[in-house]
Amino acid sequence: SQRTFSIIKPDAVRKGYSAAILAEIEKAGFKIVSIKRLSISKAQAEGFYHVHAARPFFGELTEFMSSGPIFPMVLEKDNAITDLRKLMGATNPAQAEEGTIRKKFAASIGENAIHGSDAEDTAAFEIGYFFAGYELK
Ligand code: GTP
Ligand code: MG
Repeated sequence: SQRTFSIIKPDAVRKGYSAAILAEIEKAGFKIVSIKRLSISKAQAEGFYHVHAARPFFGELTEFMSSGPIFPMVLEKDNAITDLRKLMGATNPAQAEEGTIRKKFAASIGENAIHGSDAEDTAAFEIGYFFAGYELK
């Protein structure tokens, strides 16, 4: 099986959707390997999203991601990376398919409820950004 990294974003935590999103994730067959609740600084958000540094929305994105508590987590199943992206739905919830997490819980392209790694190398970087080895057994 494969591991991926996910975050329940500040909008979803604020609205009280955390448990409902975790239920969708478990129902889809993912094992929750590790999870914690914390708030990150703008600098930590900038480090996490460094690949987007040149994008016009980088300031808005990192401001938002540091605006309140989040639930970073490590998930495991066969094809975890691709399957989580499918379960999340399109980045813009207006384009997300029926039944996806973003369709159900996201408000806009900026406040879109959940993050999921897009490849094996980014998953490895993102897991290491939030979790130590002893938290991943
Ligand atoms: P993540 O799982 O969060 O990485 O989403 P994604 O892979 O579907 O989208 P992408 O990596 O292209 O963009 C990262 C995040 O930047 C998105 O999830 C959005 O929260 C945010 N984002 C993308 N486009 C826009 C935009 O046009 N405006 C704003 N405010 N945020 C955006
Ligand atoms: Mg992405």
